[in-house]
Amino acid sequence: MKIAFFDSGLGGITVLHEAMKRMPHEDFIYYADTAHVPYGPKSRDEVLTFVKQSVDAIIQDEIKALVIACNTATSIAITDLRKTYKLPIIGMEPAVKPALEMNRSSGKRVLVFATQLTLQQAKYRELVSRIDDMGMVDSLPLPELVEFCENLEVEGPQIRDYFLTKLASFDLSNYGTVVLGCTHYPFYTSVLREILPSHIQIVDGSRGTVNRLMQVLQESDQLTATGDAHVKWMCSSGDSAYIQKMERALAFLQAAK
Ligand code: SIN
Repeated sequence: MKIAFFDSGLGGITVLHEAMKRMPHEDFIYYADTAHVPYGPKSRDEVLTFVKQSVDAIIQDEIKALVIACNTATSIAITDLRKTYKLPIIGMEPAVKPALEMNRSSGKRVLVFATQLTLQQAKYRELVSRIDDMGMVDSLPLPELVEFCENLEVEGPQIRDYFLTKLASFDLSNYGTVVLGCTHYPFYTSVLREILPSHIQIVDGSRGTVNRLMQVLQESDQLTATGDAHVKWMCSSGDSAYIQKMERALAFLQAAK
């Protein structure tokens, strides 16, 4: 049986990449909702409908776990999905908790990058109000980054300039950690590493999600121990050029340091 990863577009490949490193014998499906990407500018109801349509298509295959590798989709749809589908469903959570822990002793602030839609959801607001007792978390929506990523514009001067403009009003000496709260954003980790002061750590939620996925499969004795990893690429628009783009995106992550 396969492990399915779902995202609006290319972003979830950052989580798939982490899973492939840690679970090298599994059969994966990666499904991108290319007919509706990006989710960030859409309404909550639209995203909920698109996610359910996508999951209905994914479960035509035999799958043993589903990873919603999209922060926006997780924050809007995960509760509904868990009520509707009888299989383990693992979502994303912006890594705000580990980021706050990293900065407890230094007193530095945490800056969360995510889509506007993720930042507006009760799931994110409740997370922050539960754990940010000292008011140390700020946020910054980066909507254009999803579009750059979907065009595979992942490096170069225009990307550097974009970040420099977005960060111009922040005094970065006050920050200890940047949280990448959208699965598209880890494609920009190396550009950010060049731009951000060296004391700032960059974290994302893929490790925590893959930890949870492995735990769930281990508990039900469903981890595969032998054989090569395989990925079946799918997208809602059925566009074969996009399948090649997904393979190029994975290759970019595998080649990155
Ligand atoms: C998007 O489709 O706008 C990005 C979704 C996400 O990963 O949060």
